[in-house]
Amino acid sequence: MGCSFSFSALWMAFSLVLALSAMAPRTDARAFFVFGDSLVDSGNNNYLVTSARADSPPYGIDYPTHRPTGRFSNGLNIPDIISEQMGMEPTMAYLNPLLKGNNLLVGANFASAGVGILNDTGIQFLNIIRIGKQLEYFQQYQTRVSRLIGPTETQRLVNEALVLITLGGNDFVNNYYLVPFSARSRQFSLPDYVRYLISEYRKVLTRLYELGARRVLVTGTGPMGCVPAELAQRSRTGECAVELQRAASLFNPQLVQMLNGLNSEIGSDIFIAANTMQMNSDFITNPQAYGFVTSKIACCGQGPYNGVGLCTPLSNLCPNRDLYAFWDAFHPSERANRIVVQQILTGDDKYMNPMNLSTILALDSRN
Ligand SMILES: *[C@@H]1O[C@H](CO)[C@@H](O)[C@H](O)[C@H]1NC(C)=O
Ligand SMILES: *[C@@H]1O[C@H](CO)[C@@H](O)[C@H](O)[C@H]1NC(C)=O
Repeated sequence: MGCSFSFSALWMAFSLVLALSAMAPRTDARAFFVFGDSLVDSGNNNYLVTSARADSPPYGIDYPTHRPTGRFSNGLNIPDIISEQMGMEPTMAYLNPLLKGNNLLVGANFASAGVGILNDTGIQFLNIIRIGKQLEYFQQYQTRVSRLIGPTETQRLVNEALVLITLGGNDFVNNYYLVPFSARSRQFSLPDYVRYLISEYRKVLTRLYELGARRVLVTGTGPMGCVPAELAQRSRTGECAVELQRAASLFNPQLVQMLNGLNSEIGSDIFIAANTMQMNSDFITNPQAYGFVTSKIACCGQGPYNGVGLCTPLSNLCPNRDLYAFWDAFHPSERANRIVVQQILTGDDKYMNPMNLSTILALDSRN
């Protein structure tokens, strides 16, 4: 009895030490900030009055809790997997009330499904956090963290952080090509629209730099014409929709050019381009080589390619999500997200420009 008492007392003391060390501020770990759209939203839209949400089953079916979290995935999304691979805790949605105190030091996710580079993108979703507002929240975040650790340490935390931004897809899918003869398509030819987007995106990234970001992963758009939603709407025989593929092939190279221009202006490799077009095209073109049974049919949905409407509790649902490149009509499955993150980490210059994330981590740890 005495023996078991002292053992459990010892155990309690040990657990207390563990708990306390877990609670201590982890200013040594690198913070991670995320901006952009549904490809990287970790649940902000759950707190908004919007139709762009992923808060009902079967979203999250393969998440550790097996419950919907607002992520547009069956399980983890790209930021989650980057955090996991870097040995960090996942960054929480900025609007999550649990994101406070020392949790703030891990970073924050400001992304909001439906947004684009332009303010008029995604207006049909009503209340979403447009990119200008995401940057305002980033400023507010820094004020809040300053109260915890002071302005000097806050500046250091932000300067040393890793940042991910994913924008652009919605400016085509949910703006220029949303309806035939959309306002933007009457205003601009496609090449002029792309140039306009790039010039507006440049302002966003410049602001991000002004707010302290010093290592920013910038993804291009994926092969937008190949997602099940576009196959259902625009494709007769399952070939990728030509106009959206053309948009991606105009946008992505100009994005890389713009990032290179910004870097040389600043005189440092701040912005890192991730060629998500290539990363996604690899497994979309040859799904079997990556262990998928299909890259055309979404796991969750209805209609041709399961590409019509939303993924809901009433939709068709595939039994094994790992066999599908697409989880819903627009968003990759967790397994597809893992392939993308692997290339971000270790891809060569066909995928990452001017360097991959492994190289960044090695460089930054030496400084
Ligand atoms: C978008 O809206 C923000 C906030 O209202 C504004 O500051 C910004 O200039 C707008 N951008 C464009 C391109 O109109
Ligand atoms: C990252 O990129 C560099 C340079 O392109 C390459 O040599 C290296 O093999 C890549 N992968 C890793 C894990 O660093």
